[in-house]
Amino acid sequence: MKKIVVINNKIKKFNVDTINIIGDKSISIRFIIFASLSNGKCIAKNILKSEDVLSVIKIIRKLGIKIKLKKNYCEVYGKGLNGYKFRKNLILDAGNSGTTARLICAALINSNHNIKITGDESLKKRDMQRIIDPLKKFGLKFKSKNGKLPLIIKGSNSLKSIKYFEKLGSAQCKSAVMISSLFVPGKTFLKCLPSRNHTEIMFKNVLKIPIKVKSKKNFDYIEIDGKKKFSSFNYNIPGDISSASFFIVLTLLSKNLNLKIKNINVNPSRIGIIKILNSMGGKIKFSNKKIYNGENIADLKITSSKNLNSINLNPSLNSSAIDEFLLIFLVASLSKGVSTFRNLGELNKKESKRLDWGYKILKMIGIKVLKIKNNGIKIWGNPKLKLNKTFIIKDYLKDHRIFMLSVIIALTLGGKWIIHDSDSFKTSFPSFLDTIKKLGGKFN
Ligand code: S3P
Repeated sequence: MKKIVVINNKIKKFNVDTINIIGDKSISIRFIIFASLSNGKCIAKNILKSEDVLSVIKIIRKLGIKIKLKKNYCEVYGKGLNGYKFRKNLILDAGNSGTTARLICAALINSNHNIKITGDESLKKRDMQRIIDPLKKFGLKFKSKNGKLPLIIKGSNSLKSIKYFEKLGSAQCKSAVMISSLFVPGKTFLKCLPSRNHTEIMFKNVLKIPIKVKSKKNFDYIEIDGKKKFSSFNYNIPGDISSASFFIVLTLLSKNLNLKIKNINVNPSRIGIIKILNSMGGKIKFSNKKIYNGENIADLKITSSKNLNSINLNPSLNSSAIDEFLLIFLVASLSKGVSTFRNLGELNKKESKRLDWGYKILKMIGIKVLKIKNNGIKIWGNPKLKLNKTFIIKDYLKDHRIFMLSVIIALTLGGKWIIHDSDSFKTSFPSFLDTIKKLGGKFN
């Protein structure tokens, strides 16, 4: 049966003024993997229970680690760096989750059997060469067609520490190298383009692993001393800024609305969207700021913004907003003036080709938009845009962020929206439609 959501009504007011958002996906996946490698029982509160996190839990259980997933918390019984049980002919399925696929390969560094890693239709199209290259340097062996899933991985008993230059600005690649470095004696050195730094923060503040991080002008330099075991730990996972962003933009683009979103991780490497939208005239404020295990946490207060201006985005902000560009393009479409974004090639390497999809959806709603060189896009904003036609969104490889973007456009600009694969949001934000409903959004 086809799963379709139909939206035919803008949202005019919110029924509640405060919402909570589910736990951060990046931190939830890291919690499961790091906890499984620790020595003892780890507990996480507010862990995200989305399909991506369920994929990593299933994989870790297949590796012989006990995980209890309860209503309000999750327990992982870590067995240390050598604790995984590698059965013959093991197949690990990462589902839709690029983070799971890439980080788990790094943790299989000492497997004594071939292990097959696979994923869904979208994940099979994504680049794995970016982690194969550095992990091979440690001594891991890979077999894959064109650097894509499914791939076969085998560990080695002659592993060595490495020096690696991460040139994509990918947190997943950086984290893969950091995880493998734990298993090998000696120091691993990384020079990398900036990307989200949850792994560095957890290594230092939670796992207490000897790590040095220096941020210079264009690069981060990381040094990790390997072969260090670490104790069990507990973690209270803060709200996910990427999921919160759909409600930030919903509020910003609607008329005369206010919303408070509580307990969000506002790590500086993740808040590109807030910096960008505020510099366009958005009204997003932080309150109740605190630091938890090295992460910055705050409540967000958002007020509808009438006069938004275009932006010529400095690409140095790209990595801190990498999952939010579809929403940023939408805001640019409703702003005064012409906005320009560049160096966004990585967007086409996500769950779907998001740069191409952004272009396609903006064209569909009647926005003048142009693809420019260096994987850039130019958007001619139209603050008066209102929609009354029918729009159909389908064949988007079930990319959760495209589904949620379409819902937000429907609720802010109107028109009739028929959105296929209406379960796709469950990979990252299973309570998305419930939150829309709670606020007063109507859909069938
Ligand atoms: C993630 C890193 C990002 C992001 C993804 C989650 C992570 O990808 O797009 O949704 O948890 O490390 P990159 O590897 O491109 O940074």
